[in-house]
Amino acid sequence: MIGKKSETITEDEAALYDRQIRLWGLDAQKRLRSSRVLVAGACGLGAEVAKNLVLAGVKSLTLLDHRPVTKLDLIANFLVPEDCLTQNIAEASQERAQDLNPMVEVHADPDQLETKTDEYFRDFDVVCITNCTGEEAMRINNICRQHNILFYMGDVLGMFGFMFADLGDHEYVEEVKEKSETEDASGQKHIVEETKMVRRTESFVPMSQALQVDWTSNKYASRLRRTTESYFMMLTIFEFQSLHGRKPDASQRETDIAELLTIKNALMDRLSVPREKVGNQFASLVFGQLSPVCAIVGGVLAQEIIKAVSQKDQPHNNFFFFNTSDGSGVVDNIGM
Ligand SMILES: *[C@@H]1O[C@H](CO)[C@@H](O)[C@H](O)[C@H]1NC(C)=O
Ligand SMILES: *[C@@H]1O[C@H](CO)[C@@H](O)[C@H](O)[C@H]1NC(C)=O
Repeated sequence: MIGKKSETITEDEAALYDRQIRLWGLDAQKRLRSSRVLVAGACGLGAEVAKNLVLAGVKSLTLLDHRPVTKLDLIANFLVPEDCLTQNIAEASQERAQDLNPMVEVHADPDQLETKTDEYFRDFDVVCITNCTGEEAMRINNICRQHNILFYMGDVLGMFGFMFADLGDHEYVEEVKEKSETEDASGQKHIVEETKMVRRTESFVPMSQALQVDWTSNKYASRLRRTTESYFMMLTIFEFQSLHGRKPDASQRETDIAELLTIKNALMDRLSVPREKVGNQFASLVFGQLSPVCAIVGGVLAQEIIKAVSQKDQPHNNFFFFNTSDGSGVVDNIGM
């Protein structure tokens, strides 16, 4: 995709995007404004990603979600006006998202993600899935991989958030500073520093591979200590969602905490990873969606999408985990 010709930018666009063009360059802005993005899941995290990408100036952004607006959504998703209770949440978010930037086509799709097939996803350059099960994310990841669509998924549960990316074999350019020695006419040596643009490729693995690592293999057994416990916490949540068809629910808090711990222990035994790798306290911290966590993970997700679309700078490969307790963000590469 590098070197793809993009159309020129209008005067209005140049004025609106002036600050960003100075930040990431005109070529990056042109690539951005020709990209069509799907954000599935109009939850707090989906709203953050959508807002950031609409402000940045993508060509089009489609918000997909079949659910009705609930009282909890009014707290988590700032794109939904208060008088929209029980309306479709994607449609209810559309107007405020559009108001952020009239130059972006903002669409709402009230269908269910599960009903969408190959053909639907092929109309997008970037697909970002939030608030869905691991199985569904893997299905869509495989479709995206087949059609060279940039794939992202992420979620926020209570104080915990994460994202995953599969960009296939992703080409990008990076600025590198190089020192070299030159000799002037009098034979004196000088060190000069040059900035060069270097082309690189970063290879990703599909989510199915990133979630099915053999922790007894030499490679991964030796990495276990360095691997964040958040990864195993995420696996536990995926399993909870696929068993119960929902996220942990605050209205049945005690039952769900016990169930999360049961799932976690069985999972760790199955993976031959010591149960203590993930402390039990996590189970009480994964209810609802905390807005500041959505803002952080949504900020990282959107930044990664902008980076990948503009093909500038090295992308995070392949997980990012955010832990509110200690305020840490961790990038880890798992499944290679
Ligand atoms: C996420 O999806 C579940 C159904 O799978 C739904 O019950 C829940 O309200 C959604 N959460 C958010 C924050 O959108
Ligand atoms: C988050 O950070 C706290 C404080 O350092 C730690 O006790 C906890 O285990 C961490 N949780 C995860 C999932 O990394």
